[in-house]
Amino acid sequence: MSIHNVPEIAEGVYWVGSKDWNRKIFDSLIPLHQGTSYNSYLVKGKERIALIDTVNPGFEKEFTEKLSQLTDIKNINYLIMNHAEPDHSNAIPLIMEMSNATLITSEKGFKMAQVYYNIPEERIKKVKDNDTIDLGGKTLKFIDAPWLHWPETMFTYLVENGILFSCDFFGAHSAAGLYDSDVDEIISYAKGYFGEIMMPYKNMGKKAIDKIENLGIKMIAPSHGPIYRNPERILEVYRKWTVGETKEKAILAYVSMWSATERMIKTMAETLLSENIDVKIYNLAIADFGSLAADLVDSRAIVLGAPVVLGGMHPVAVYGALLVKALKPPLKYGAVISSYGWGGAAIKQALEILGPTKIEVVGTHEINGPPTPDDHQKVTEIAKQLAGKIKQ
Ligand code: FEO
Repeated sequence: MSIHNVPEIAEGVYWVGSKDWNRKIFDSLIPLHQGTSYNSYLVKGKERIALIDTVNPGFEKEFTEKLSQLTDIKNINYLIMNHAEPDHSNAIPLIMEMSNATLITSEKGFKMAQVYYNIPEERIKKVKDNDTIDLGGKTLKFIDAPWLHWPETMFTYLVENGILFSCDFFGAHSAAGLYDSDVDEIISYAKGYFGEIMMPYKNMGKKAIDKIENLGIKMIAPSHGPIYRNPERILEVYRKWTVGETKEKAILAYVSMWSATERMIKTMAETLLSENIDVKIYNLAIADFGSLAADLVDSRAIVLGAPVVLGGMHPVAVYGALLVKALKPPLKYGAVISSYGWGGAAIKQALEILGPTKIEVVGTHEINGPPTPDDHQKVTEIAKQLAGKIKQ
């Protein structure tokens, strides 16, 4: 058996997760630059032992070896399922088979544990908000925190040590380090993760933060990425992100085949910059959608550049617009510009996609062929209007 690193993050509390350096994409959608981790934690009380979350498929052997370094797996009394998604719960059946543990779930998780993992009802204990379990000198308190990121999610709080086990919430996709202080760019990773995973549920995130504000948390131990020994570092930004606090910043996301749309986007960018608006430009054909998701977290405006091809809006621009709509960013204002060869269609299509969002479209401009000086003038005017709105 290999000897694994199972650091003790507080007295009697061990990290027993896995680091997945090779993972390059999550949800078949978002590229990962530093892999990710699936954090699991073993909590040893004087009388009982609890395991909080498990690991992604493929890491079972390493996981059980790590646990065996700390205890006989048969001695685990409770297995806490903070979230039913397989990256945290896929090893639940294995641990249940190797022990007589009781699975602890939220009310909604009760059914999911049966459906996803075939855990018999009699081995599951449902917990409600503020319910506790005493491990002997260590008290686990359960906090309802639904929709972060599925309906059944909950937090587990280790009262005596002030550790919040928050599963996906406060996470980051990075396999690096154990603690936040080990990863230089941690807040940037956390921001991309928030944009991809939590932004659509930010209202639920705000409620969860309000609920935990007065707990006196000393450490936040999520199930992806590093553990925050300085919880205020992540709480401070989450307070802003969950209420949709935006900056004087615009995303210019476009596709271009023969540069007509791109030239208008550049005019738009120059004008916005001259108005002191922060500008982030994404050519959607080659863009990193993780970076785009991160910038959506605090941008106030978006400009979509979408040419016409094959009788409609360019499919990559359609994808970009649909992604923006799905992630529910706090964008307030927008504009759409387009170029076509022999028939316009993209503006109408873009407005249909963005219609259900709360984005106020300040202006549109659709041209036939390459932009003329008049077109650049028109784009400049739209950019100035947009800048005015952004600065309001
Ligand atoms: Fe990391 Fe929603 O699972």
